[in-house]
Amino acid sequence: MCGIVGYTGKRIAAPLLLSGLRRLEYRGYDSAGIALATEHAIRLWKKEGKVSEVKNEIESDPDQSIISTSHTGIAHTRWATHGPPTTVNAHPHKGNSDPKVVLVHNGIIENYRVLRTKLEAEGRTFLSETDTEVLAQLTDSLYQGDLLDALTKALNQVEGTFGIVAMATAEPGVLVVARRGSPIVIGIGPEETIVASDASAIITHTRNAIYLDDNDIAKINGVEIDIRTLTSARVSREASEIDWSPEAAEKGGYEHYMLKEIFEQPDAIRNAIRGRIDVDKGNAILSGLNLEPREMAEISRLLVVGCGTSLNAGLVAEYATEDFCGMHAEVEQAAEFRYRNPIVGSKDLVVAISQSGETADTLAAVCEAKEKGALIAGLVNVVGSTIAREAGRGIYLHAGPEISVASTKAFTCQVSVLLMIALKFARSRRMSIESGRCFAKAIADIPALVEEVLKTEDEIIKVAEKFAQYDHCFFIGRGYMFPVALEGALKLKEISYIHAEAYHAAELKHGPIALLDENMPVIALLNQGPGMEKTMSNVHECKARSAPTVGVITQGDEEARSSVDYAIEIPACPMHTSVVPATVALQLFSYHIARIRGCSIDQPRNLAKSVTVE
Ligand code: M6R
Repeated sequence: MCGIVGYTGKRIAAPLLLSGLRRLEYRGYDSAGIALATEHAIRLWKKEGKVSEVKNEIESDPDQSIISTSHTGIAHTRWATHGPPTTVNAHPHKGNSDPKVVLVHNGIIENYRVLRTKLEAEGRTFLSETDTEVLAQLTDSLYQGDLLDALTKALNQVEGTFGIVAMATAEPGVLVVARRGSPIVIGIGPEETIVASDASAIITHTRNAIYLDDNDIAKINGVEIDIRTLTSARVSREASEIDWSPEAAEKGGYEHYMLKEIFEQPDAIRNAIRGRIDVDKGNAILSGLNLEPREMAEISRLLVVGCGTSLNAGLVAEYATEDFCGMHAEVEQAAEFRYRNPIVGSKDLVVAISQSGETADTLAAVCEAKEKGALIAGLVNVVGSTIAREAGRGIYLHAGPEISVASTKAFTCQVSVLLMIALKFARSRRMSIESGRCFAKAIADIPALVEEVLKTEDEIIKVAEKFAQYDHCFFIGRGYMFPVALEGALKLKEISYIHAEAYHAAELKHGPIALLDENMPVIALLNQGPGMEKTMSNVHECKARSAPTVGVITQGDEEARSSVDYAIEIPACPMHTSVVPATVALQLFSYHIARIRGCSIDQPRNLAKSVTVE
């Protein structure tokens, strides 16, 4: 999705903005641009394609005067929504040909057509097809020497979502930022201010940051920051420390962020469960849930919402909650939930799962559930993100920055935290202290299980080499292994472009089996536990139809090994925690297939890291 950086301060702005844009590349984009301001003018460089192309444009510009002297600028990576990914549609957008106002924008201006027609009737002409240019022209039309005032007036006419940074020719050194539903972080340095849509663009300069609230607008002049609401009331927002280091957002010697993040999982999960598991008491300590035992006892249903990988993690919660807590649990695709008029109320705990905390559908589901009086808890990785704030209560994953578009460590941390939630509910109901201790110990053992799987990477590579040439494949599993199959297929299709589908193993015979032949490999989740024998029978059915087979099996299970063509081993562990090592094995499998096929692993085509539009 789109990314924003802005700078005002003592340093030359262009190199800072370009390095900020590079740090936002992981979000996915298809064009980029920069605007720089000096005492008298603002100049723009925009280009379809990569940030490196904008950099080339700037470096080869015969007039370097603004570039080498400007201390203020804004920059953007665009993921096309309104209008194709062309240079003219790239941000920044200007208010007119001799720009009074220039801005970059994340989000969607829903009433842009009405506003555009009105501005055209006033004699304005538009260069692009974007909703953002409408906002730039509207602000320009309202500008009378005060950018804060003009943008406030413009945003009061706007319906939709925005994260914005704007500059005006007549106010050199000034940035105006605003947010509604799309994040803006203000990084405060000793002699400068760096603003961005995501902390990764500012973390190398400062860890001291202010997160704007929805409907905040701020004027930044060097290091002076004046924050107001869109109703013009002055407000103050506390600065907080960004809790991850700049190195956490680097590749650290790995070929891809995805591989680095796969290998970070033992530590990421340790961070997610640290201080939250009490093995002695057989319980989880989840103060972020902010629920007294009596309130927990009154909750009759857990409703989990999310999208993509986060939705797959939610399915694990459904199984675990019903298994251990004797409580109703449902998982629902967030987009369905928001439009389905769901029956929810004060006895439901809605758990919204999101790595980014910015996914539009998940956020809308949270708002809908709130409206209907449900308790909401966020299970989010990015601190200060919109869903975390909107939920009000919740548990941060502490997985560290996840840069690769394909989610890996967020999933395993989500599952670990969801198992802790299940433990807490189970103990507040019928689970004994003894059973609680076993459950708590099993969660505490997860990082070591992942370490075991990571040691088998070379074996997994050998299997990946055999399967990299296929263009289709099935994943099958039952019970807790069904969400693992879903996540395995999602990972493979995202990064290798192999058409991969996941089925509950029992569903094979109800249709998909018609597709099986020697060109349709089947990856079966066959680790020991309930349902495994039946999945093994399904594997025999697949082999009988010539499908090549891979089994994810429990270490040393010779029977399972002999029933598949190739095996990937995971350590023995309870079924509910085996979700994590089994998924890690499939992450490595997908990663190496994509590497062998020469795919763009960290930034797969058409995908964005967080989907902030519907
Ligand atoms: O940030 P979120 O967890 O809310 O994102 C949800 C999905 O967009 C995300 O999991 C997506 O499916 C990933 N590309 C999966 O690898």
